[in-house]
Amino acid sequence: MDSAGVGRLVDERYVGVLYAMTAVIFCFSGTGNTWWCAQRLASSLGVRGVQTRVVSIERIGAAAAAELVAAADLVGLGWPVYGSDLPEPMKLFIDTTLPSVDRRRVFTFCTQWLFSGNGARVYERELAARGWAIGWSAHFRMPNNICVTVSPLSWSADPEDHTKRLEKTARRIDRFLEAVLHGRSFSRGRGLVPAALGAMQRRPFRRWFLRLRDDISVDAARCTRCGRCTRICPSGNLTMTPDGVVTHGTCVICLRCYNFCPVHAVRYMRRPHRPERGLPYRGPVAGFKPEELAADR
Ligand SMILES: Cc1cc2nc3c(=O)[nH]c(=O)nc-3n(C[C@H](O)[C@H](O)[C@H](O)COP(=O)(O)O)c2cc1C
Repeated sequence: MDSAGVGRLVDERYVGVLYAMTAVIFCFSGTGNTWWCAQRLASSLGVRGVQTRVVSIERIGAAAAAELVAAADLVGLGWPVYGSDLPEPMKLFIDTTLPSVDRRRVFTFCTQWLFSGNGARVYERELAARGWAIGWSAHFRMPNNICVTVSPLSWSADPEDHTKRLEKTARRIDRFLEAVLHGRSFSRGRGLVPAALGAMQRRPFRRWFLRLRDDISVDAARCTRCGRCTRICPSGNLTMTPDGVVTHGTCVICLRCYNFCPVHAVRYMRRPHRPERGLPYRGPVAGFKPEELAADR
């Protein structure tokens, strides 16, 4: 092997050790944070000689997922936490699309603004039922994407704040990967205390969630009928009709439609966005396009 040539692309410490490895990371991402972390994991893995594919779960069926899993040496799963819980599309993916295996290790990560207790391990039992054992788990802090008027929480639309947060997270991603690739322990969210803290948020969230599935609406007077929200919604909650956008009660509260509507026509709990509190969160990097994540509609 021409290690000098490879060394330009791959950290030389890993050449020959891991060069033939491949990985696949399946992720759900509402507004781009988890996608960014998955891409960063992939490029860091690439530097360490592991060719990695990142797949949005919205764009893949069971047969293709099974093929990718069969071909990969390493499998990862990532999601954002919602009230210390997994988003519905990720639950569905794990329950029905990810193939069952005969005991394989997987790494999991979640992205969060502040805290989730055991966000990256919350689906441990369900994964185990399909043969997957969580070998490593990480929590990555990312910018807050809850920008709805009813929320008292603050968020930042300042790219400099985002860059600082991303730099810190990138360093944590590298530490995480070192542990994964060298078989060292990295198990964020493991144990009774994180599980109890996670449950404290998750229990009420799961109760509310059922009542929160039809809280998105579109202000017909403001809407330009561009159809973007209907194309990027991950759960088929929005349809364009001659009378405007209608909803179907299947919202998963990812806030993608709300945050990426070009004219702030999407409302949450009938409250329009208040631009004086700041622009909605449009992803971790300038120009982020949620269309990359969504199934073609
Ligand atoms: C409905 C909802 C619930 C959330 N719950 C939490 C939470 O419990 N803890 C937390 O730190 N962040 C929480 N967040 C923030 C997101 O997890 C965080 O911004 C995440 O990185 C978004 O990832 P995404 O851009 O891939 O969707 C929540 C966001 C939403 C939309």
